[in-house]
Amino acid sequence: MSTSSADKFDKLSTLPPDSIFHLAQKAKAATGPKADLIIGAYRDEHGRPYPLKTVRKAEQRLLDMNLDYEYLPIAGYKPFIDEATKIIYADTVAPDHLVAVQTLSGTGAVALGAKLLTHVYDPVTTPIYLSNPTWPNHHAILPAAGWKDIRSYSYYDPETMSLDFEGMKKDIHTAPNGSIFVLHQCAHNPTGVDPTHAQWEEIADLMLAKKHQVFFDSAYQGYASGSLDEDAFAARLFVKKGIQFLLAQSFSKNMGLYNERIGTLSVVLHNPEKAAAVKTHLELLIRANYSNPPAHGARLVHLVLSDKELRKEWEAELADMAGRIRTMRRTVYNELKRLETPGSWEHVINQIGMFSFLGLTKEQCQYCQDHNVFITLTGRANMAGLTHDTALMLVKTVDEAVRTV
Ligand code: LMR
Repeated sequence: MSTSSADKFDKLSTLPPDSIFHLAQKAKAATGPKADLIIGAYRDEHGRPYPLKTVRKAEQRLLDMNLDYEYLPIAGYKPFIDEATKIIYADTVAPDHLVAVQTLSGTGAVALGAKLLTHVYDPVTTPIYLSNPTWPNHHAILPAAGWKDIRSYSYYDPETMSLDFEGMKKDIHTAPNGSIFVLHQCAHNPTGVDPTHAQWEEIADLMLAKKHQVFFDSAYQGYASGSLDEDAFAARLFVKKGIQFLLAQSFSKNMGLYNERIGTLSVVLHNPEKAAAVKTHLELLIRANYSNPPAHGARLVHLVLSDKELRKEWEAELADMAGRIRTMRRTVYNELKRLETPGSWEHVINQIGMFSFLGLTKEQCQYCQDHNVFITLTGRANMAGLTHDTALMLVKTVDEAVRTV
């Protein structure tokens, strides 16, 4: 091979690995007793991956169906999209005000939405705000979509280990009118701290007053409270307030469909006459990127959501999963109290969803990792990955870290 073509690649330096996936591999490879609490995936009470029973049933049924093996449309499988968006919006949005497409799960939806917004806003001059902290991948997706002015808004107060609501409001207020705000619809990742209903009301009013563009990331519906309706509160409220927004939806967690990459991107529009235009822009982006989405996950989710019996079973299973996470939070909290671990630990039971933000220093988190308790260096622990035994192991190690590091 001639060296001239290879030379062009010389300018590439090796980038740091993805913080979550890299650490997840490390945790997987570790030997001996361990608590692997890195990746946001639900495990059963024995720490094993948990394929949902309802999804397994739907899979069996799909095998017996006479399926169409040819391409899905560019925008995806319409019956799936209709059912999926219904669990977010219920009947709050008139159908002609909603444009939705199937996506490669939540990540694909955020990426597609970020790209769509570059057709509407100037990605060089429009500030786009992420919560501080946020899911690390948001910081990778936005620049990859062309956004240049990426800023943070206050969200988590490490002192109180709760929402910095005054700081958040101030940042929304002082942002230039017409900025873009990425909000976590429920079960904030990584902190497990969500605004209350009353706080969401205030946030919505501020967004309206400032004419900001809202983009919801909704990856955990059902995990925060165990109820799909309760966990869609923010999106439905914003619709009722007349806010025009985008929403990225994922079924990775609430159906355990991590590998099928199944989700939606929806756009709630003021002007229904623009629905066709938005749809064509989305289709163009999809077609130019991966042509059209895979069918299997869409068919599974559609079946679970549309079949009365499966739907009931799934909602019960989801409520059980959310309940098991709450039990694990309680176990961790009680054990920290029993050991009289220095500090206040109420946040562990007050936070919701999969993750707990433990409130440890980076060095204390490193101590935990060095002792086979795998949490991120920001102190995020996947509570849905705990068993009774690993909960005790987590607490013992946190106790040592807090006392000695
Ligand atoms: C996580 O935050 O651990 C999950 O959302 C998995 C991922 O893609 O990062």
